[in-house]
Parts: sequence; structure tokens; C-alpha cells
Amino acid sequence: MNKNKLIYILGIESSCDDTSASVICNGKILSNVIASQEIHAKYGGVVPELASRAHQQNIVPVVQQAIQQANIDKKDLNAIAFTRGPGLMGSLLVGSSFAKSLSLALNIPLIPVNHMQGHILAHFIDTKNHQKPTFPFLCLTISGGHTQIVKISDYFSMEVLGETLDDAVGEAFDKSAKILGLPYPGGPLIDKHAKLGNPNAFKFTKPKVANLNFSFSGLKTGILYFIQKKVKENPNFIKENLNDICASIQKTIVEILFDKLKLAVKQTGINQIAIAGGVSANSEIRNDLKATEEKFGWTTYIPKFEFTTDNAAMIAIVGYLKFLDNNYAEIKTIATARLKVNEN
Ligand code: KG4
Ligand code: ZN
Repeated sequence: MNKNKLIYILGIESSCDDTSASVICNGKILSNVIASQEIHAKYGGVVPELASRAHQQNIVPVVQQAIQQANIDKKDLNAIAFTRGPGLMGSLLVGSSFAKSLSLALNIPLIPVNHMQGHILAHFIDTKNHQKPTFPFLCLTISGGHTQIVKISDYFSMEVLGETLDDAVGEAFDKSAKILGLPYPGGPLIDKHAKLGNPNAFKFTKPKVANLNFSFSGLKTGILYFIQKKVKENPNFIKENLNDICASIQKTIVEILFDKLKLAVKQTGINQIAIAGGVSANSEIRNDLKATEEKFGWTTYIPKFEFTTDNAAMIAIVGYLKFLDNNYAEIKTIATARLKVNEN
């Protein structure tokens, strides 16, 4: 391939409750449009049927905006990358059907992308002041659906070293927030209140899980029983202690993550550490990871804030890497709700 050639990739992401489209050119972002679905907040979590309906409404204007903001014509596109899975089937079907139709109409290649690879490989988007990881590195992948420690030996050579046996860490944040009466998604709100609270005010029991695996369901139950007991004694307990409760919950969750990360570094001898996924937006996780550079001599990779939660730029960058590899798919490729990080 001609090295000076400009390669334009359109990425489409619709795995959960964000409809997003992005155009990147040779690894640089030209646009990254995200339509978030507010409708789920009042139900305390994502309602799959409502999510797919909202994707149907959003997909055309979001893609149009992404192409417009990139200041290109759709005929300039070289390929279309879309999230094949994992995610909610109804949501995935909207993005994948749209991507297929557009690739047929424009007669350009179709590139399916694993959403979790997208979160990890977002570190390879060309952005100012962000150094790309070198191989091998470990990635703590933390989102509303996943909690994994992944060893990345090359772009598409990934091995899961440990993962959650029950709830994902994002669910731990969101379910704890729900117990406290905070709206969905509660993770960012816990983060916000925690900044004003005392992390040592309350103590929650950390789970004992072997190897590099995680568990968060016991912690959630522990928090529920603690709050129920305290509210019985004082109906205003949550209101009077919200910041301290959030700080204590967040401290416990962050400690659980870092205990395993330290063990992973010890077991693998790899001390190049990245974080990825929606929960990597958490300020304490970001600060604590940065601090390990001085504390333990780790090299750390913290994604730009806009690439932490779901976005199509991360899908487009994977599309670009696959395009360079001539790694396309046939039109009969189907979306799939379940997909392991090392599957395509
Ligand atoms: O990656 P993502 O956007 O969607 C999934 O693929 O799941 O992650 C969403 C998750 C939610 O659970 C949300 O509460 C959490 O990321 N989250 C946070 C923060 N920002 C988003 N959790 C803790 N602190 C934050 N600042
Ligand atoms: Zn995600």
C-alpha cells in the first residue's frame, strides 16, 4: 500500500446505550459523535428494548454528523467498521445492519470489531500527549459489563489472565449507587461524591478470590445490608453521610482492583499497565495508577477521558488496524451478544 495514501475509516458503535459514529484518517480522529440515551436513567439501568429503538432513531443523524464533521464525502470512505459484539443483541443489530447496508451501497469493505478490543486498542489512536503502549503490556479492562486483566502481546494477540466471576466493576459502582438512591449510571456520581468524603469512614469486606479473578457481588450485598441497618437506626443516614459512604465504597473497589493488578505484575513480570473501559474514567483509579510510576516503577497508560466510555473512535481505530492487515469480513457476518476478548 502507498504509504502516503489517506485511509478513511467510519466506525459505528451501538453495543449498549450510546449510538456513536467516528471517522478516522490514518489513525487520527476527524470526528467522534456520541448520542447518549437519557431514557434509561428513570428505570435505574439500561432497558434493552428501549435502547434498540433509540439506536434506530439516532443512527442515521449520528453517522451523517460524523461524516460532516470530518469534512469528507461518504464516497471518500475506504471501509466501515462496526461493533459485532459483545453487547445487547437488539442494539448490536441496529449498528451492524446499518454498517452492512452502507458498505454494500458504497461497495467498500466491512470490518467487524470486538467491542472489548476497541476499549483496549483505543490506546493506539493518534492523539497529542498520549504515548502508545509497547508490547507486551497488561490492560485492566473495566466497564459496565467487564472486569478483566488482559495480557496484550500484539494488536490482536490477547490473553485473559483473570476476570470477574460475577458482577462487573461498573455494576458494583452502579448497583451501590442505586442502593444510595442515586440515578443510573451511578459510577460517575459515586466518583463525584467520593471526592468530598472520608474514604476511611466506613469499612467494607473485600472478597477473597483466588488468582487474578475478581468478585463484586458479595461487596454489593455487604453494602446493601450495611445501609439497611444504618437507615433503620437513622432514616437520614444516607443523606447525612453520602460523601463518606461513596468515598468508602470507592476506596474498597479501587483496592480490590489494585490488589489484583499488583499480583498480575508479580506473576508476569510485565510492568507496563494500561486501563480501559468506562470505569477507567474514575478519578481515583486514574490518580492511583499514575502514582504507581513513582511508587513501583510501572509505566502506565491512561486513556483520554473521551475514550473511556463507549465511543466509535475506538471501533474505527481497530477497523484501521484490520484494514492495514486486509482483514475484512463477508456481508453474512452476524452480530453476537457474547464474544471473548480474543475472538473476532
Ligand atoms: O465502557 P462503558 O461505557 O460501557 C460498557 O461497555 O459497559 O462503561 C460504563 C460503566 C458504567 O457502569 C458507569 O457507571 C461506569 O462505566 N463509569 C464510572 C465512571 N464513569 C463511568 N465508574 C466509576 N467512576 C467513573 N467516573
Ligand atoms: Zn464498553
